[in-house]
Amino acid sequence: TTIPATLIPGDGIGPEIMEAVLAVLEAAGAPFAWDRQQGGMAGIEQGGDPLPQATLDSIARTRLALKGPLTTPVGGGFRSVNVRMREAFGLYANLRPVRTMVKGGRYEDIDIVLVRENLEGLYVAFEHYIAVGDDPRAVAISQGVNTRTECERIVRFAFGYAVRHGRRKVTLVHKANVLKALTGLFLEAGRKVAKEYEGRVACDDRIVDACAMQLVLKPEQFDVIVTTNLFGDILSDQLAGLVGGLGMAPGANIGPDAAVFEAVHGSAPDIAGKGIANPLALLLAACLMLDHVNEGAKATAIRDAIALTLETDRVRTRDLGGEASTMEFAAAVVRRLDK
Ligand code: NAI
Ligand code: MG
Repeated sequence: TTIPATLIPGDGIGPEIMEAVLAVLEAAGAPFAWDRQQGGMAGIEQGGDPLPQATLDSIARTRLALKGPLTTPVGGGFRSVNVRMREAFGLYANLRPVRTMVKGGRYEDIDIVLVRENLEGLYVAFEHYIAVGDDPRAVAISQGVNTRTECERIVRFAFGYAVRHGRRKVTLVHKANVLKALTGLFLEAGRKVAKEYEGRVACDDRIVDACAMQLVLKPEQFDVIVTTNLFGDILSDQLAGLVGGLGMAPGANIGPDAAVFEAVHGSAPDIAGKGIANPLALLLAACLMLDHVNEGAKATAIRDAIALTLETDRVRTRDLGGEASTMEFAAAVVRRLDK
């Protein structure tokens, strides 16, 4: 049986890394029946919208998507495509696991899962300017929104994940000492949910700036981290840096009605079209997608093949100090899968 899923190649390096990922998925016998749709710049060129209705309809139908990075044009009044997609399908939980895959870096054995709230906080972008004298934009004002319901829901997601994956601890990350209302509510809701899991999963909390430092000094103290939208955005890139960069970091946007899987990184315009991008982040996102549809054995086979490719065959893309092109790396993973 096949599982219908939407496929959005995306912008910049998107089509290159997607081609590599599809080659590996096919070799692994992944059961997806793809419905290919446009998004980002391709969407704008075709119909003026970076998030076309046909793409939204497809995801509404399949409830499952693998997407490449989408460029949000600066200026022109476009809202972030990614934010719009998250809102359209209520994708409230952004799951971003990182794990050491290339030994000999600054850190060994990193294995941290970041859960980022995806719909609220400062990313609701209630923003405006106030004019002073002849400067129409003398003052910029932004309001963040956190609701108790959503704070509890995202923390519950993190604890549920911890239970299902045998994790020991959840760390609530906040700035409740300064943003007393906005992130104090998150901390309060988080501590309440943590009580439901007492004796099963431990809980502690950290102020976001101290957390950023601790992540660099002693990352092994962290297990699952749950935090609000903006902090989660920043910390997840930092986490990627601990394991070799953005080319290694997958993400899943999960809601009750749909799930969209993608790399944490963007369209990397500086290396697009050269065939040298690392497809690992998107490939690991595809593994999360396999986990999500209960095809965990296939995900494990791909992850094992990746580990052997990186460590035994020492085939790596340039961001990891290697020389392999995007497709050479994918071909090496496919060879391992075939063995
Ligand atoms: P970026 O993540 O595209 O690139 C940052 C740096 O990391 C660049 O030097 C790039 O070459 C490198 N890099 C990223 N992915 C890589 C990979 N797979 N292999 C090797 N090197 C890689 O971030 P940037 O430049 O800030 O954003 C570019 C565009 O991407 C923007 O239009 C932004 O809106 C969009 N974007 C989209 C996202 C999404 O669709 N989920 C997420 C982040 C940004
Ligand atoms: Mg980001």
